[in-house]
Amino acid sequence: MRNSAFAFLLLLAAAVLLSAAAFASVNQNANSSTTTNRNQNDSRQMSAPTPDFSKNTWELPDNADKTKNPVPTSEESIAKGKELYLERTKGNCIFCHGETGSGNQENLPRLRRKPADISNKERMSSMTDGEVFWKISKGITGIMPAGEKRLTEEERWHVVNYVRTLAKEPAKP
Ligand code: HEC
Repeated sequence: MRNSAFAFLLLLAAAVLLSAAAFASVNQNANSSTTTNRNQNDSRQMSAPTPDFSKNTWELPDNADKTKNPVPTSEESIAKGKELYLERTKGNCIFCHGETGSGNQENLPRLRRKPADISNKERMSSMTDGEVFWKISKGITGIMPAGEKRLTEEERWHVVNYVRTLAKEPAKP
């Protein structure tokens, strides 16, 4: 009798520990996008000399803009692109560019550089799909992550197709 009570207590303790561990990891996930950013800030404060990202810019292959989009735009492709644009563990474009592409106001104070307004039709129509693809693929060191690390080539083309749908005429002043 005593033994089984003891075993029961042990089981109970194990259950409590397991759920605490599960809760901790859920919590970590919930914070992951913000912690990435915070960690960068922390390391900037702690490790001198501070890297200077302010002059960094696109480093695209020659003729990047000539690259043809192999994925025809379709409702399906746009839907996939949207999912990737929003998904924290994939594109996470929303973190900087916001849902509409005009910039995530909430995160702006934490960003090293103000994100380009990718909802601006004039600006976006001056770029070929190829150029947008390479910008998403390579990013800018310290400024915009290289999408090729977390998105397959095909996924990046879906994102290009989705980003095209964000371009709107500029709002009237
Ligand atoms: C950490 C913030 C950040 C994230 C995340 C991010 N971007 Fe950017 N993006 C920027 C900044 C800043 C610029 C402007 C860079 C510059 O031109 O100086 C930019 C520029 C761009 C441009 C080029 C616009 C132009 O006019 O040249 C495109 C297209 C773009 N981003 C798309 C995306 C997509 C799609 C994603 C997700 C896969 C993404 N970005 C993720 C910060 C970000």
